Amino acid sequence: PRQFCVFGNPIKQSRSPWIHQQFANQLGVEIEYEATLAPCDGFERNLKSFIADGGSGANVTAPFKEEAWRLCDQLSDIAKDSGAVNTIYISGDHLYGDNTDGFGLVADLHRQGATLTNANILLLGAGGAARGVIPALLKENPATLTIANRTASKANHLKAHFGDSQIQSCGFDELNDANFDLIINATSAGLSQQRPNVPSTIINQHTICYDMVYQATPTGFMQWCSQHGAALCIDGLGMLVGQAAKSFSIWFGKMPQIEPVIVELREMLS
Ligand code: ATR
Repeated sequence: PRQFCVFGNPIKQSRSPWIHQQFANQLGVEIEYEATLAPCDGFERNLKSFIADGGSGANVTAPFKEEAWRLCDQLSDIAKDSGAVNTIYISGDHLYGDNTDGFGLVADLHRQGATLTNANILLLGAGGAARGVIPALLKENPATLTIANRTASKANHLKAHFGDSQIQSCGFDELNDANFDLIINATSAGLSQQRPNVPSTIINQHTICYDMVYQATPTGFMQWCSQHGAALCIDGLGMLVGQAAKSFSIWFGKMPQIEPVIVELREMLS
């Protein structure tokens, strides 16, 4: 069987081996898919030895997506723009890098009935996770995409990097006078049991809120959005399965079904 691997640190929590096994079962192919804990300074070494052992493809998660971007010989347009790679296609010693996170996010938003075209979108955070999904969000032609970050200068930097006229950038304290159709939390605040300290006036009764992380129960950010009257609060489980499906299609040339895997994973978590 062809061999695949996800590299990250930490990695124990990764559902990717299970998800890809479901896709392989659906399409009747045999795969071996492992999760590898790479030391923070050992990603390149681990990737090279995986390639030497005949690996066909890899997923890359935090904190190695930017390093993966630098190591690839060729990049998709989306990966080029986003500065981060989460999917590597290995052909001999040639590495092709793509980023499927934005696809996963947008596909899940559509699945949940959100409209992105002409919408006013707020993206919270300006780190790797935010940056990785910006190209896919821009492709949907939102009316505006506001990048807001605790450290405003980092949001301003992303605006300058992408340069699109729809993008605005600011710090959290400048959000007082606006509300949004869609709010996406791409900060890592939840990892330390916190939520981005944004004013509740950004939410109205039509606002859809999306947290890019997921857990068994609604995240702190989702709970806060519900309390302030959001129309719908969604976690990142569908995004996780969607980005994996797109990775699988890059390796196998066929798109697996996303929905049944989301349903089963949700059941496993509860
Ligand atoms: P990732 O790859 O998950 O995006 P990162 O590149 O380290 O990780 O970026 C983390 C993001 O979460 C940043 O936007 C960070 O804000 P700062 O740039 O101000 O540091 C944001 N973040 C982390 N903890 C946060 C908190 N408690 N409140 C608000 N934003 C937070």
